[in-house]
Amino acid sequence: MTDSKVFQIIAMDGGAAVGKSSTSKALAERLDLMHVDTGAHYRTLTFALLNAGAAPEAEHEIESFLKSLKLETMLQERSARLSVNGQIPEDHEIRSPQVNANVSKIAAIPAVRKSLFNYQRAQAKVAREAGFAGLIMEGRDIGSVIFPDADHRFFLDADEATRAARRAKEGLTDSIADRDKMDKARKTAPLICPEGATRVDTGHRTLEEVVNYICSLIQIQA
Ligand code: DC
Repeated sequence: MTDSKVFQIIAMDGGAAVGKSSTSKALAERLDLMHVDTGAHYRTLTFALLNAGAAPEAEHEIESFLKSLKLETMLQERSARLSVNGQIPEDHEIRSPQVNANVSKIAAIPAVRKSLFNYQRAQAKVAREAGFAGLIMEGRDIGSVIFPDADHRFFLDADEATRAARRAKEGLTDSIADRDKMDKARKTAPLICPEGATRVDTGHRTLEEVVNYICSLIQIQA
């Protein structure tokens, strides 16, 4: 069992395709952390809402639909996944062009963000109880809203050409620039580099270099 005194929380924010997931997963392996991808949370809710026939503009309808959803966590190795009414949708379902096209609109709805706030904060307890040395959570508002009190807060960035090339390599159709624009412009919990967070450029570094660099910063900041 991990000593609760050394339990650490790492917030990893940044725009689409800047390398948050690969970096967070590699850090989770290296530092024995539980990994939570909050982009997958918004994608899962978007998938559920679209399946239920909700229009992204129908905020009141969406708000009442959200109340009918039971959100739980299932641990898959070191990755904590959100299940909705007992189901975890497949990766290809939550990363489809249809979800990509709607997720930023859905994520801008205050009721949607509110429905995930306590759930996401509670992931620290899940990680502690499962015996991990800490939690790494990736998203857009982790260091600003969900865990402004995190032990370490990073904001990843990369040039547009690198980001587009990454998505193309994954074989995914994604409107990176449009999503970033909407995520930055929304009123509730916009995508920002929070004050005090460390900005890391992933565009001119390999994954290993990024992970080594962040590990060295964590040691310095500890
Ligand atoms: O990380 P991702 O590209 O899978 O995230 C999908 C969308 O979810 C992103 O365009 C905005 C939204 N999101 C958010 O609003 N807040 C978060 N903490 C994580 C993602």
